[in-house]
Amino acid sequence: MQISPSILSADFANLQAELDRISTADWAHVDVMDNHFVPNLTLGLPVVEALVAVSPIPLDAHLMIEDPDRWAPGYAEVGCRSVTFHVEAAADPVALARAIRSVGARASIAIKPGTPFAPYADLLAEVDMVLVMTVEPGFGGQAFMADQMPKVREVRDAVRRHGGDIWVQVDGGVSAATIEQCAEAGADVFVAGSAVYGAASAADAIEELRALAVAHGH
Ligand code: DX5
Ligand code: ZN
Repeated sequence: MQISPSILSADFANLQAELDRISTADWAHVDVMDNHFVPNLTLGLPVVEALVAVSPIPLDAHLMIEDPDRWAPGYAEVGCRSVTFHVEAAADPVALARAIRSVGARASIAIKPGTPFAPYADLLAEVDMVLVMTVEPGFGGQAFMADQMPKVREVRDAVRRHGGDIWVQVDGGVSAATIEQCAEAGADVFVAGSAVYGAASAADAIEELRALAVAHGH
């Protein structure tokens, strides 16, 4: 059970200090948005490279961008230990996953709430994680979509049948109130932005989320 706080809810003027606040987490989740794949713009490769240099924990890059085939391997090259791209945007997800892995990072596919998993099940042979979005990507602080839990179960079942150490991540609206159902459905990596950065103590929030996930997971 791993917790990956999203720095989307952090103070963007003080990102090094904000990374230090989550040093007890497993990963730092970095939401890269290009204003095309999603209607929001955050940060890109030069800033991510600077974050890698100062982060106390590995970076988990979530690329909400068009043409990830062109851009995603660069995030692995600058040192992100996990790179996630959206299947809706990738032209050749097999080649892209292989390119990311060849640089030494974990490769992961993300699927939006309206995207079914079944057409992409064959990609399990090529990836280290599947991210099931539990909000429409683009913004932090949105309401959790419980209707995505059947998809989390479907992915977990497919991973079990496939074998190997493939993680199932959920992202969007994950909090102490919603993490239990995610863990019960089979998620094992939990992204939380506002629930961690909005807490008085980020470390306490991370610990609470991890304990709830462990108590309700498989
Ligand atoms: C949404 C991002 C999420 C977001 C989560 O497009 O991918 O990572 O930061 O924020 P919360 O946890 O506040 O929903
Ligand atoms: Zn994200």
